Amino acid sequence: MDKFRVTGNGPLSGEVPASGAKNAALPILCASLLVDDALILRNLPDLWDVGTTKRLLRQMGVQVAEIGRGSLAVNASGISTCVAPYELVKTMRASILVLGPLLAKRGAAQVSLPGGCAIGARPVNLHIKGLKAMGAKIALEGGFVKAEASRLKGARIVFETVTVTGTENLLMAAVLADGQTVLENAAREPEIVDLARCLTAMGAKIDGAGTSTIIVEGVRELHGVEHHIIPDRIETGTFLVAGAITRGHVRVTHTDPNLLDTVLVKLQQAGARVSTGSDWVDVDMTGRRPQAVNLHTLPHPGFPTDMQAQFMALDTIAEGVGTIRETIFENRFMHAQELFRLGAKIHIEGNTAVVTGVERLIGAPVMATDLRASAALVLAGLAADGETTIDRVYHIDRGYERIEDKLDALGAHIARVSDGEG
Ligand code: UD1
Repeated sequence: MDKFRVTGNGPLSGEVPASGAKNAALPILCASLLVDDALILRNLPDLWDVGTTKRLLRQMGVQVAEIGRGSLAVNASGISTCVAPYELVKTMRASILVLGPLLAKRGAAQVSLPGGCAIGARPVNLHIKGLKAMGAKIALEGGFVKAEASRLKGARIVFETVTVTGTENLLMAAVLADGQTVLENAAREPEIVDLARCLTAMGAKIDGAGTSTIIVEGVRELHGVEHHIIPDRIETGTFLVAGAITRGHVRVTHTDPNLLDTVLVKLQQAGARVSTGSDWVDVDMTGRRPQAVNLHTLPHPGFPTDMQAQFMALDTIAEGVGTIRETIFENRFMHAQELFRLGAKIHIEGNTAVVTGVERLIGAPVMATDLRASAALVLAGLAADGETTIDRVYHIDRGYERIEDKLDALGAHIARVSDGEG
């Protein structure tokens, strides 16, 4: 298992390009199941989760061809099975995203039920409830969600909780359904807008993506298109925090500042000078200690839960006391235990963490527990004195493309150490 060895090396500075968004790439790859044509996808990030999705599609008989760096041609016309096995689903919960498109296009799907995960229970009951409302017959058997439908029927679906992949699954189901589907209390994440943009180019009729009411008029058939995935706002935000936490000056290019409103507001509150252009964001914290920020996570356009851990890392070395409330996932403070090991002062009560900034963190061995928690540990390691070793970096490889190379280009001292290398 690989580790990262990070040595605090003062302020980071320079430019780093954002990769394509993981959370847009995964549903859009699954949207290939809706057509018998090739979908050409550009700006795909080279990530473990994208690799898992490719494996998932290939084992169904879908052709997935590399056509240059970050580009794939995906063609599901030769699909041979509609099963998503446990071996793949257990490593990536987003595998559930094949359920809606398989059911809509092939009339059947068997997807292993994702288990719990490190950050909470994460059920898929709302995906299932919505598909049932569209006329699917669904049984849970042998650890699988087994679903069947001749042709799904449009329905009005009110989500009792805002769910990102739930909205995506039902959106993909609705595009080929008979009649109109209305998704109420839908998630509004930019990745949903990107999926809807791709589906619309494929011939789907969708109104309101990016708002809490999405209206879909089902069509009989869709066709292949070429689609460019949006930049990763969470990766962008992580590099911006890397600039801020090291009192440096970092510019992220190939990104979209409009995707990062609440994150940029919090960076400004932390004392950073933030400037933006059409496809870049610049954060300058040169020579200043960050100020502690308070935040609570919310569905988009609120502050993203996927940036919570990174801001907790920032608060650990900030001036003052920051209060962080996590409202999306019930167990998403695992990084706090590891940040303690670096000397952070964090008091947790229920879903609230009170972080009292310390002058300095001191490097120590820590363990990555989930994707964004791992990013927070890397950030803390960059700001700490001495060496921090982060174990289980496979978590970070799930969602960050070559993070060590990108940080190295900003002046960080970070090395990947493979098993046996000590
Ligand atoms: C997606 C993102 C993830 C992000 C999360 C919240 C992808 C691939 N992953 O995850 O990075 O952290 O959104 O922004 O896009 N819930 C239910 N029943 C359901 C579905 C969800 O109770 O059927 C609850 C969850 O337990 C959680 C909340 O709804 O408390 C939000 O989860 P959801 O938006 O579904 O997260 P994901 O789509 O899994």
